[in-house]
Amino acid sequence: MDRLTVLDLRKKKAEHAPIVMITAYDYTMARLVDAAGADMILVGDSLGMVVQGHSDTLPVTLDEMVYHTRCVSRGVQKAHLVADMPFLSYQVNPEQALLSAGRLIQQGFAQSVKLEGGARTAPAIEKIVAAGIPVVGHVGLTPQSVHAMGGFRVQGRTEDAAEQVIQDAIAVAEAGAFCVVLEGMPSVVAAAITARLDVPTIGIGAGPSCDGQVLVCNDILGLDQSFKPKFVKRYADMHAAAVDAFSRYAEEVRGHTFPSAEHEFGMDLAPVKLARLY
Ligand code: KIV
Repeated sequence: MDRLTVLDLRKKKAEHAPIVMITAYDYTMARLVDAAGADMILVGDSLGMVVQGHSDTLPVTLDEMVYHTRCVSRGVQKAHLVADMPFLSYQVNPEQALLSAGRLIQQGFAQSVKLEGGARTAPAIEKIVAAGIPVVGHVGLTPQSVHAMGGFRVQGRTEDAAEQVIQDAIAVAEAGAFCVVLEGMPSVVAAAITARLDVPTIGIGAGPSCDGQVLVCNDILGLDQSFKPKFVKRYADMHAAAVDAFSRYAEEVRGHTFPSAEHEFGMDLAPVKLARLY
């Protein structure tokens, strides 16, 4: 196994080579994303919404993140594996943050952890980094603060708000984050942050100037017809493909055309002995 390291990712920024990050929540999806050549796979707490069906990420627990990260890790050969720190697993104090991050590394087999928030998360980032665990920051629209933000709203739209987001990104990088996710902000704000930071920025709803981009795997595949925000581009219509496949299977079961001879197993018994089975 030869996964990308933090050094490889830093080098990409220096070489202006865009970083591709995609989420995955299980072994099968991890294998697909890895085979596609993603540089980073994120086990995002977005799994609370796309896997568990919650309306936000707040109910996701650390145990659940460890479980999904472990599943994903078995399917990753090449990409750098990042695990999200869920709500309330790092906000209490830096010691709690380190213990939570440690579980994602030790039990989930992640190579780094991601946590949301700006300047206020600096002490937690410093503590985790000091223990030898690489950290990805996440500023701008931070979904775990959905109630404080009054919804999933783009951040940094006024001059003051933009300055706040920029200062948050700088604080996170100065605390030791090796990479910063910029979510839901005007492209010009993300471009300013990307120019000011030495570490790579990974955008989602943050325009084209970031050093890399991240999207949720389900959104790329078009698995949910009802979810199509402005920042998402669908590269497939897997909803239609999946419903079609399941419907044809159901039709064939009901029409007695599946399973057919090619899917059956025979026995090595002579017909006369076989008759005794009935
Ligand atoms: O949870 C997640 O999937 C994320 C990405 C959208 C950046 O944090």
